[in-house]
Amino acid sequence: MARILITSGPTRQYLDPVRYLTNASSGRMGAALADAALRLGHEVVIVSGPVAVDYPAGAQLISIETTDEMLDCARKTFATCEGLIGAAAPCDYMPRFIEPNKISKTGQPLVLELIETPDVVATLGQAKRSDQWVVGFALETEDRHFRATVKLQKKHCDLIVSNGPQAINSADNEVELLDPVGEVIAAVTGDKHHVADELLSHIHDRLICPI
Ligand code: C5P
Repeated sequence: MARILITSGPTRQYLDPVRYLTNASSGRMGAALADAALRLGHEVVIVSGPVAVDYPAGAQLISIETTDEMLDCARKTFATCEGLIGAAAPCDYMPRFIEPNKISKTGQPLVLELIETPDVVATLGQAKRSDQWVVGFALETEDRHFRATVKLQKKHCDLIVSNGPQAINSADNEVELLDPVGEVIAAVTGDKHHVADELLSHIHDRLICPI
């Protein structure tokens, strides 16, 4: 059995003490994956941004807020895990400067300068040991297959799950699981719990106990 790290949910990037950038990720796919992994007898650690979803009680939950915090916790935790499933939707941009006090309205447009946040899956994928594996997710609105394959290679994933924007904040998902050469290993549609069971079964056969 394996010890698996799952990143889940959105992250927040603050502009000032009360305002932040985020996205509509619900954490439901991460919760379903955790549930599926636990039922197969694996040990699960979840690093999650702020969500309303209930994660399974059998998983260890580490709650974070920002992408930097997610990276920091994931990096430390991954050292003790065999695998990472990157189901989170971290906020990709953060303000270059965080205002220490609440930004006041001036009657003029507010221009924000945004810089990229670190990529959690890419950072862990690049540094993974030979006994570790990484499964990423790719949410694309166009050229899904091509873009997911590029991401898989860029982020040093062993497999990647391609899904569309309908996955966000929904009980259902429609995914394709791609191998490192972009071959579709599985196509699954339905409730996120069903999708998670199917994904875990392929992850088990290919990465946890390769036949
Ligand atoms: O947002 P994007 O489609 O590039 O996400 C692809 C994969 O990279 C997902 O597994 C996501 O969890 C991960 N990711 C990440 N850190 C980011 C952005 C994305 O780990 N800052």
